Amino acid sequence: MSKSVVIKGGTIVNRDSEIKSDVRIENGVIVEVAKNLKADVQLDASGCIVTSGFVDLHAHLREPGREEAETIETGSRAGALGGYTALVAMPNTDPPQDSIAVIDFVREQGKRAGLVDVVPSGCITLGRQGETLAPMAELAHAGVTLFTDDGVGVQNASLMRRALEYAKGLGVTLAQHCEVAELTEGAVMNECQCCTDLGLPGWPAIAEELMVFRDIELVRMTGASMHFLHLSTERSVELVRAAKRDGLPITAEVTPHHLSLTQELLGTYDPVFKVNPPLRSAQDIRALKAGLLDGTIDAIATDHAPHPRRDKEMSLDIAPPGMLGLETALGVVLGNSELEIKDVVALLSWNPARIARIDAEHGRPVAIGEPANICIFDPDLAWSVDLERLASKSINSPYVGRTLRGKIRHTLFKGTPTVIDGQAQK
Ligand code: DOR
Repeated sequence: MSKSVVIKGGTIVNRDSEIKSDVRIENGVIVEVAKNLKADVQLDASGCIVTSGFVDLHAHLREPGREEAETIETGSRAGALGGYTALVAMPNTDPPQDSIAVIDFVREQGKRAGLVDVVPSGCITLGRQGETLAPMAELAHAGVTLFTDDGVGVQNASLMRRALEYAKGLGVTLAQHCEVAELTEGAVMNECQCCTDLGLPGWPAIAEELMVFRDIELVRMTGASMHFLHLSTERSVELVRAAKRDGLPITAEVTPHHLSLTQELLGTYDPVFKVNPPLRSAQDIRALKAGLLDGTIDAIATDHAPHPRRDKEMSLDIAPPGMLGLETALGVVLGNSELEIKDVVALLSWNPARIARIDAEHGRPVAIGEPANICIFDPDLAWSVDLERLASKSINSPYVGRTLRGKIRHTLFKGTPTVIDGQAQK
């Protein structure tokens, strides 16, 4: 039997209630919600929010194949420190997640680390090459619910149509990285006046929007459900808003970095700000935020993309795109949006749990009988990133030197504290 845990003095935030109460957990389950509770382990939550653990729809954990950047264990620890209890692992590993063998390996490594639920996504196409469909039925029968070629979009419309038809029959969701490759060759940053001034090749907004548009129409045709990854432009939000108005089974995410950082940062020529899709304009940020407020955007996902220092120290044109996100997501979101706490939890936990179809275990209310996947955070604590103390194996965080507001204090995974007072427990 595991030790009983009590979370003391916090404010429990659920979908339809906000109450001050203690919470007692035994054997991974919430057994009591009341005042003045006692247990073997006591976690102080005064001044803190107690709510369901976060679910990231978009984490690059790099294992197998690129363990010098991250492992499933280090990525899981970074996730726990960020308040996460489940991470959807992106498939651009080496080998990619297009076979049962690799999916099983990722799951097993997740279990071995034991810090979060690691939920492997499957590739849409074999090797993410965009030519032949991956064995989607076999992977779906093995429990894969989200399929994506993330890192690249599926360019071939006929193949995408076929994938959606299979997805519909299998009851799974396709998640698209929207980028028409012919329009972004060699691109380093958003195509805008400042990219011309800086002499850098541009990634035009339309490269994203064309694929959003195409895929909305393919969803209309096939009736399959589709999730749009890391949307970054004003017009993408408008397209999704209209598609939802038409009742199409579409969901969408944005990242913390696209909500908080703008294209002008590329003027430093620092590859830490190179990401795909690129940082956009202040006007795009306003549109993304409006999309969060009116429900057009369903989730905030990190696109946590660790890269080894030597790769990110290359020049801007050859350095790989991507930035860390798991440990900073909450602080960035709280400090860069007008969202209420409840809306932030919806975007970081309840909605992504539903999209990943893990809402029997994650994104649950903090209530008696529910699994104790919980995070506890101080919404007002100001802090800054210390590269020496990141749990991630990589250090490509764009938030160094910035003050973030809101920090995870404790995280519980299946009733066991993985983080206590901001410290990882294993
Ligand atoms: O910036 C990015 N990095 N965007 C992606 O889509 C992939 C990711 C990576 O794997 O590094």
